Amino acid sequence: MLKKHRKVLLVGDGAVGSSFAFSLLQNCGIDELVIVDIAKDHAVGDALDLEDLTPMMMPAQIKTGDYADASDADIVVITAGVPRKPGETRLDLVNKNTKILESIVTPVVNSGFSGCFVVSANPVDILTSLTQHISGFPKNRVIGTGTSLDSARLQVALGKALDVSTSDIDAYVLGEHGDSSFAAYNEATVSGRPLLSLSNATDEILSEIEEDVKKKGGQIIGKKGATFYGVAVSLMKICRAILLDENLVMPVSAPLDGQYGLKDIYLGTPAVINASGIRQVIEVSLSDEEAAKMQSSARKMNEILLAAE
Ligand code: 2OP
Repeated sequence: MLKKHRKVLLVGDGAVGSSFAFSLLQNCGIDELVIVDIAKDHAVGDALDLEDLTPMMMPAQIKTGDYADASDADIVVITAGVPRKPGETRLDLVNKNTKILESIVTPVVNSGFSGCFVVSANPVDILTSLTQHISGFPKNRVIGTGTSLDSARLQVALGKALDVSTSDIDAYVLGEHGDSSFAAYNEATVSGRPLLSLSNATDEILSEIEEDVKKKGGQIIGKKGATFYGVAVSLMKICRAILLDENLVMPVSAPLDGQYGLKDIYLGTPAVINASGIRQVIEVSLSDEEAAKMQSSARKMNEILLAAE
């Protein structure tokens, strides 16, 4: 039987895009990767550089192309956009990146593309929502990296503070991938035990961790100008869950439809991802204080979306 041809189109070959491609080619068994970038020479160079790893890992064709190549792709990954400069918030990027997004999504849809969009450009919740609006795609087939990176950062910080492996920690950051995000400690566990029941997880330590996690992106940008490895692996994991129909639970920017009392909005929450895109949104049980933070994050997103449309 012929193996299904797995194809990904990557739009945006900057630091996030190329780190994602590097991870995708090593972990997902794809057949074809097409790279689209306005810096054409750089993309050609990257395609040539990336193809050299394939004989040592997994065979795949890698080429540069344009939006028409999306016609038979399983996934279009959008990392293209102006990245944050030191001192800028993700929301400062809305106007610049909305224009870029329109110029990508419309021709992709016109190509006849019928797969899933996966978005990581910032502000990711807003741009994911706009990708769905512009494309008119079913909401489950448009996914953003959301708070996957923030949740990974939370696991790293809790792992260090409690001196346990990050793999023992089940804890999510929810809401906007940005300043209104929050750590959902109420339901978090460490080796299956409630985080809040641990004597070394004091309120003071947990609040400090929550703040540090929020600032970590800015801190990295201040030191090296950009962040890319974490979000690149988040993109890879979302793509692998779609390509291999994994039913993977991970925090992403997902379309809420009644969960947390919210509707018609993309926000960071765990969801089940498989070949259909988002199979199911999982509602985390929140404390009253956390629920209020989720509402406030949603209000902030809605105000920006209204202004952007
Ligand atoms: C981050 O949090 C810049 O959104 C990116 O690393």
